[in-house]
Amino acid sequence: MKKVIILGSTGSIGRNAVQVIRNLPRYKIVGLAAYRNHRLLAQQAALVKPQIITLINKGQHRNLKRKLHRVKLLSGEDGIAEMIETLDADKIICALASSTGIRGIMRAIERRIELCLATKEILVNYGSLVMKKARKCRVRIIPIDSEHSAIYQCLEGRDRDGVMNIILTASGGPFLRKSLRNVRKKDVLNHPVWKMGKKITVDSATMMNKGLEVIEAYHLFGFPAHMIKVVIHPEAICHSLVQFKDGTMLAQLSTPDMRLPIQYALTAPDRIPSTTTYLDISQQKTLTFAAPNLKKFPCLDLAYRALDAGKTMPAVLNTANEEAVRLFLDDKIKFQHIPKIIEKVVAQHQPHEGNLDHYMQATMWAREKVKSIVC
Ligand SMILES: NC(=O)c1ccc[n+]([C@@H]2O[C@H](COP(=O)([O-])OP(=O)(O)OC[C@H]3O[C@@H](n4cnc5c(N)ncnc54)[C@H](OP(=O)(O)O)[C@@H]3O)[C@@H](O)[C@H]2O)c1
Repeated sequence: MKKVIILGSTGSIGRNAVQVIRNLPRYKIVGLAAYRNHRLLAQQAALVKPQIITLINKGQHRNLKRKLHRVKLLSGEDGIAEMIETLDADKIICALASSTGIRGIMRAIERRIELCLATKEILVNYGSLVMKKARKCRVRIIPIDSEHSAIYQCLEGRDRDGVMNIILTASGGPFLRKSLRNVRKKDVLNHPVWKMGKKITVDSATMMNKGLEVIEAYHLFGFPAHMIKVVIHPEAICHSLVQFKDGTMLAQLSTPDMRLPIQYALTAPDRIPSTTTYLDISQQKTLTFAAPNLKKFPCLDLAYRALDAGKTMPAVLNTANEEAVRLFLDDKIKFQHIPKIIEKVVAQHQPHEGNLDHYMQATMWAREKVKSIVC
């Protein structure tokens, strides 16, 4: 029996992960964690009967405790680390909406727990430290992001020296063919293909999501930035491609359903039947591809530039974006202000290397910088 911990079980990926694991033979959920949704966490605990659950936001701890039977409850970020320390897990799914929990993830790697990673912010902020630890501890990191899952599958068993480019596909978001003038929040949150959490949905509309994915791919697969390309593919059927030096391209295609990459991250390299709708390629009339418009979506270019600068710069870019998106969702700034705020913050940052604390300090600096720009 494979024992799994899910961080972020109440979110879009987390809920799908609970569903996937309940349908997988020989997999069992032993730990769950969420940020503040104590009601859903209590329901999930009653359903899957884990040994430990963690609510990061300490404010709701009492409310949740009353609803639990025979489940140990922990709280705060320390609770995540303690849960990882205590449970004898084989795999951990990380699907929190931010890099909160990084210390727990580092501990999980040290404990040689395999990491199934959805939270791209973990690699964007702390990629060099996380990958170094994973290499040292010989722990696999298997991506859940559909694009990275596709690349991972196309590269499996292949000689890396034969790779020319990896190509991430992007649906283009809700504004691919629409003007960015007078954008309303409800249009931003109305993604044409994927139903996701609010933060990533805004990131898809600005295309910062693809920028963060470029940085995530850089760390996961270890190819230089110039070998990581982006192509617009509105049908979201081809989830990414690898181009080899002989001109061959390999791609992974399936219906857009996150349950598939979640399942593959758990079972890789084995393939077992899934509950997703299988693609009938004969019914797929068109598959279109085009270059992204970096003028219209400057966030993608900002991400490439942050990756070039390296060191703490991607963490600063990501944090500035997180803050700007939060302000947008709180109706404090307009949609078109998001890239402008990020650009101002990264322009004032001197990137440096360091340990986890140094990277965290850079993120705190970026958070304060956004506040000082907006107020
Ligand atoms: N959704 C997708 O299809 C998809 C695809 C690829 C990659 N991803 C990545 O997967 C991650 C999760 O995405 P999602 O769409 O599942 O997000 P989501 O629906 O917003 O769920 C996020 C989870 O994180 C928790 N959370 C909320 N605020 C938090 C905070 N400040 N710090 C830490 N955790 C917090 C939530 O807990 P509460 O419910 O208790 O607030 C929830 O369990 C993101 O990094 C995203 O980029 C998502």
